[in-house]
Amino acid sequence: MKILAFNWKLNPLTEREALSLSSLSDRKDVILFPPAVFLNAVVRRTKRAEVGVQNLFWETEGAFTGETSPVMIKSLGVRWALVGHSERRKYFEETDETVNKKIKAAFAAGLNVILCVGEPMSARKKGIHAARAFVRKQLVRGLSGIRNSKFLPAQAGKIRNLAVAYEPIWAISGGAVHHPSDTPKDSAEMAKFIKETLFSGFHSLNPEVLYGGSVDSKNVADFLKPREVDGVLIGGASVKKEELKKIFKRAN
Ligand code: PGA
Repeated sequence: MKILAFNWKLNPLTEREALSLSSLSDRKDVILFPPAVFLNAVVRRTKRAEVGVQNLFWETEGAFTGETSPVMIKSLGVRWALVGHSERRKYFEETDETVNKKIKAAFAAGLNVILCVGEPMSARKKGIHAARAFVRKQLVRGLSGIRNSKFLPAQAGKIRNLAVAYEPIWAISGGAVHHPSDTPKDSAEMAKFIKETLFSGFHSLNPEVLYGGSVDSKNVADFLKPREVDGVLIGGASVKKEELKKIFKRAN
């Protein structure tokens, strides 16, 4: 079963709409990432889909105004945390170091993590080797200290608590001509590279790898096809009901 992860970002505007989207997306191959204020409602509404938070803080409790604790999130019945999304890195100054702290905190609270990585256009323009080097650095720094630790004991085979979403920054937020998605062939090659990097460098970590960046009903079947790609992370198209219905049809 391939994963359909839906990152709603800062949408929709009301709980009513969030519940309606949840009902439409309630399948066992789906992980929903609603805005934090709707998490509770979405967890209650869904029976088959799993639910994740788009962001969390690395401390558990204390004087940190405005932050959300991984333990609080877990207590709602949330299973996943998205960490290191490029929009968080760009607009909220998230670094590989804070990403690393958040991943450790999420694991410590018992949450599963989707770590987002992806290169900017400037790296891709220099060629595939530069793009890979950029992604490799994000993986190494983001997952630093996690191998052989209490968070992720070394193990062979599939692990369920860490997934990686490869989202080339230039391909995100599409629909527009200026943001073409990557090709399924290129994304599959990068997924393979990510798996090899984590398998050899991180004591046999074997996470699922998702692709994200302007995936919609027209290209979802192509992106889900390659063996190396275990699923997709969809933003914009996942909050449009007509698109959603078509995505499910094409993904089946
Ligand atoms: P997009 O977003 O599908 O709108 O490009 C994907 C993401 O940012 O996770």
